[in-house]
Amino acid sequence: MKNWDIFLTPYKQAVEELKIKLKGIREQYQKSSKHTPIEFVTGRVKPISSILDKAKRKNIPLDRLEEEMQDLAGLRIVTQFVEDIETVVEIIRSRNDFVIVEERDYIIEKKPSGYRSYHIVLQYPVQTIEGEKQILVELQIRTLAMNFWAIIEHSLNYKYSGEIPDYIKMRLQRAAEAAFRLDEEMSLIRDEVREAQQIITRKQEQGRKF
Ligand code: GTP
Ligand code: MG
Repeated sequence: MKNWDIFLTPYKQAVEELKIKLKGIREQYQKSSKHTPIEFVTGRVKPISSILDKAKRKNIPLDRLEEEMQDLAGLRIVTQFVEDIETVVEIIRSRNDFVIVEERDYIIEKKPSGYRSYHIVLQYPVQTIEGEKQILVELQIRTLAMNFWAIIEHSLNYKYSGEIPDYIKMRLQRAAEAAFRLDEEMSLIRDEVREAQQIITRKQEQGRKF
C-alpha cells in the first residue's frame, strides 16, 4: 500500500510553482502591451484512480512511477495561434529553472486519433524537507482549437473506456481536420486580430489608471 498523499506532495508543489511561473510570463507580456503567446495555463496532479488505470494499462510497477509515468505532474499552455506555440517552446528552452528531458511534436506529426499538441517533458527540482527532489513534469502546448478537440475526444474516450465506436471516431477525425483548418484561417488574419487585441488591452490599462 502506497502512501499517496506523501508520494504526490512534491508533484503538487511542482504543479503549483510552475503554474505561477508560466502565468507570470503571460502577465509580463500583457504589461508590456505585446501580444501574449499564452492564452491560459492549467495544471493538475494526476488523480490516483487515473494513475492506477494507466499503470495497469502500461504495465508500470507502482514502485517505478517516478521514473516511468511522466505526467503525474501535468501543465498545459494554451495559445491563440499555432505560431505562438513556437514562441512558447523557445521561452521554455531558454529557461534555466528546469531541464528538458524530451520533446514530442504531435503537430508536425499528428496522432492517428487526430490529436495535435506539442509536448515537453521537464525535470523540475522541488525543494523538500529531505533536500532537492527532481520531478518529471509533462508540459502540453496547444492552440485553443487543438485544446477544444482534445478535451472533447478525452471525454468521449472516458465515456467509451477507450473504445470509441467507429462512426464517432470518423466524426472526430473530421472535427480534427476542421480544428486544423480553423487554426490555419486564424493564422491568416493573425496580424489583424493581434492589433485589435492590443487596442483593447491598451484601453483597459488606461481605464485602470483613472
Ligand atoms: P499516454 O498517452 O499518457 O499513455 O502516454 P505516452 O507516453 O504515450 O505519451 P503521449 O505523449 O502519447 O501522451 C501524453 C498525454 O497526451 C496523454 O496523457 C494525454 O493527455 C495527451 N494525449 C495523447 N494522445 C492523445 C489523444 O489521442 N487524445 C487526447 N485527448 N489526448 C491525448
Ligand atoms: Mg500515448
